[in-house]
Amino acid sequence: MKILVSGGLGYIGSHTVVELLEKDIEVVIIDNLYNAQKETHDNITKIANKPSTFIQMDATDYDGLKALCQLHHFDGIIHFAGYKAVGESVAKPLMYYYNNLLSTINLARVATEENIQKFIFSSSATVYGDGTSPFSEDMALLERTNPYGETKAMSERILSDASKANPNFNVTLLRYFNPVGAHMSGLIGEVPNGIPNNLMPYVTQVAKGIREKLSVFGNDYPTIDGTGVRDYIHVVDLAKGHVAALLSDKKGVNIYNLGTGKGTSVLELINAFMKENNLNIPYQIVDRRPGDIAISYANAEKALKELQWEAKLTIEDMVRDAWHFEKNVR
Ligand code: UFG
Repeated sequence: MKILVSGGLGYIGSHTVVELLEKDIEVVIIDNLYNAQKETHDNITKIANKPSTFIQMDATDYDGLKALCQLHHFDGIIHFAGYKAVGESVAKPLMYYYNNLLSTINLARVATEENIQKFIFSSSATVYGDGTSPFSEDMALLERTNPYGETKAMSERILSDASKANPNFNVTLLRYFNPVGAHMSGLIGEVPNGIPNNLMPYVTQVAKGIREKLSVFGNDYPTIDGTGVRDYIHVVDLAKGHVAALLSDKKGVNIYNLGTGKGTSVLELINAFMKENNLNIPYQIVDRRPGDIAISYANAEKALKELQWEAKLTIEDMVRDAWHFEKNVR
């Protein structure tokens, strides 16, 4: 089996490529290196001890994609490439709509033209909007609060419509909850551009002394300790979810949440990090961050039932591996 992975040197893409190679699946990676490093390809090779092909290419480049797919005859595409910063998407909506939608359209177009029958898309729990957890795949999607989330919902729609019109084009939409952690080798992980927006990379940078203290965004939510609750999932578990989706023979459009089904508050996560790594994380409580919801966690039963996939790694594994990577990187 030969698979094209767009954004395959990014955080989730790189971990997924490792899992694919470990299953002896042939991989061609494209990445424009906007938010990824070329050295990540060497580290993927080191971990898997198997080769893969890397081509620097932008997924908005239709002609490049077309030539690549005609050359390789892929069995499937896993599409990770995309801008992903919520705040930036509010400031630069056109950049987000152009890049995230055009890459999805081009890849789907080439896939249908070249009879590539499997397409897996990186979606997000953000499509559920401010609904009530646990989120199930069949829930009506609510309004998104930012262009980034909107590009995920729109891409889901575009791919679903393309599948309905092309019976051989089978689409799996994977809705990720909060991916954290890193490969246990410490060789690949999350390297945010600039000041991290997300909780875990901020925590690891405070632990390393790069940032002075963490700001906890609000402690007056209706949760166990007043701080926001999320469904954190180890990125290696998440990566394995893609392999399970790829190997499934389900046809048409299939949607799966990839989460653990368990919620953890910000303070619970900080405490787990401090305890497991024997470190102190200075923090202060500040105002809520606009656009945040109180509670987000998955109903994870569908992926277990239909893909025989479930997240196995614990919060302790997540905080340990995140810190192991942060210590190694830079
Ligand atoms: N938080 C802090 N301090 C920080 C960063 C985050 O207290 O410095 C809190 C947030 O308020 C939230 C929790 O930590 O309660 C998690 O925040 P993240 O930014 O790590 O993650 P989000 O749930 O806000 O966002 C994630 C993905 C988005 C996706 C969204 C909804 O990063 O891409 O889930 O699915 F859109």
